[in-house]
Amino acid sequence: MKILSSLFWRLYLSIMAAFLFMGACYIGIAFYLDEKTAIDDFYRDTHTIAQTWKRRVLADAHEETAVSRELERIYLFRIEVVDEQDYQVLSRRADKTTRHKDTVVLEFPDSDLLSAAYYVPERHRWLLVSDMDEDALLQYADDWVQDSLHRESEQQALRERLVKAILLSVFVVVALVLLLLVKNVSKHINRLIDVVADWARGDLGKRVEENMPRPLGNLACQLNAMAQELDTYTREQKVMVGAVSHELRTPLSKIQLALALLHKQTPEIENNPFYGDLLRYSDELEALVNQVLTFSRLRYGGVDDVTETIHLSRLIVERVGDFQAMYPETTVVVQAAQRDQLRADPFHIQLIIDNLLKNAFKYAASTVHVEVISEVESLLFVIEDDGEGIEESMRESLLMPFARADASRNDNTGGHGLGLAIVDTIVRRLHGSLLLDKAHIGGLRCTVRLPRHLSD
Ligand SMILES: Nc1ncnc2c1ncn2[C@@H]1O[C@H](COP(=O)(O)OP(=O)(O)OP(=O)(O)O)[C@@H](O)[C@H]1O
Ligand SMILES: [Mg+2]
Repeated sequence: MKILSSLFWRLYLSIMAAFLFMGACYIGIAFYLDEKTAIDDFYRDTHTIAQTWKRRVLADAHEETAVSRELERIYLFRIEVVDEQDYQVLSRRADKTTRHKDTVVLEFPDSDLLSAAYYVPERHRWLLVSDMDEDALLQYADDWVQDSLHRESEQQALRERLVKAILLSVFVVVALVLLLLVKNVSKHINRLIDVVADWARGDLGKRVEENMPRPLGNLACQLNAMAQELDTYTREQKVMVGAVSHELRTPLSKIQLALALLHKQTPEIENNPFYGDLLRYSDELEALVNQVLTFSRLRYGGVDDVTETIHLSRLIVERVGDFQAMYPETTVVVQAAQRDQLRADPFHIQLIIDNLLKNAFKYAASTVHVEVISEVESLLFVIEDDGEGIEESMRESLLMPFARADASRNDNTGGHGLGLAIVDTIVRRLHGSLLLDKAHIGGLRCTVRLPRHLSD
């Protein structure tokens, strides 16, 4: 159940359950004490009557029934004398018996009238002093007493209704107050969650409202301070990365211009191996500067991407053709999909495909497999090779810029370590996912899942 997964609702329901439990315990204890007091009172009252009855009948030798009727009239309790057998029948009917010295107080399941039984050894019989039911009471009572009895029972019923209504209202008020409290706290927390989600999406300019009760207000202040720090840091990074690449461009263009002029003045210099090295180094430097600029634009740039409908299988087949021309000795198997459209920036999609294909062709021993898989909401493409692959522990860290599994920046396979970082950045930007794992054919398998966004 969704409601039970929320900490606040669990807290609310637990407090209400504890409240109900406490109420039930309180009512239970009150009933128990009330009943005990009622039995004690009953015993005290009937004990006096029984003593009077015994004194009058046994010591003063009055007639049993006459004494009983007289005492009934005075005390308004029913008085009977029964033999052992009748007493046994009566006591079997009782669902609870309480013994007080020489007296047994009997309670019956079907009524709230009590009976006290006193054994009279001189007569081998039992004297029963019982509560009178209402009819019997009215028979003895005069009009004034009847009225007051009537009033008393009405007041009692009213008191009971009032107590019930007060208890119910207290429960409803407590439930409402707690509900408001819980809703208020969860509203503040949800506001925090919304802003933190914006930060996670890269919008570090958002700030949490700090006007909240403590400690949430303190938490909001600390989170804002953290976001401010991160925002400043990210801006500095962005400026640094952009500025460094731009600043490098100017001297690089000057070097390239100087080399071109040198070649124009002395064409035979192209036979000099150092000149060839210089040309290659300046090309490498230009490629690096371009890649860093591409990465910094993708990572820190705005979100004004162009969106077009792209036929992914077609684009992949086209790019595979270009790479195949560069690596003619590598065997490529492509499995395209029928429904291969998605809406995205074609430049971004090509960057993903090119970087993954470049790695696959560069690190493959002999074979590269490419497959496009169509799903309802997304498109998958899998690029795998039969090279050495990447150790599982290293895969995550290779998504960082300038990260490389081998330190050989200058040998045949040496790149700048920016390709996978660029792919990961674009995939995140498109709300897709990138998974690196082991290919069936031995090397690395890269799986990219991109949402189609066709309804936009
Ligand atoms: N298909 C693969 N097989 C084995 N190792 C790979 C493969 N793809 C990438 N790697 C490892 O991951 C590292 C990072 O790859 P990435 O594409 O980010 O950078 P790069 O290829 O070295 O340079 P760049 O792409 O910037 O020219 C590579 O240096 C390589 O060690
Ligand atoms: Mg690469």
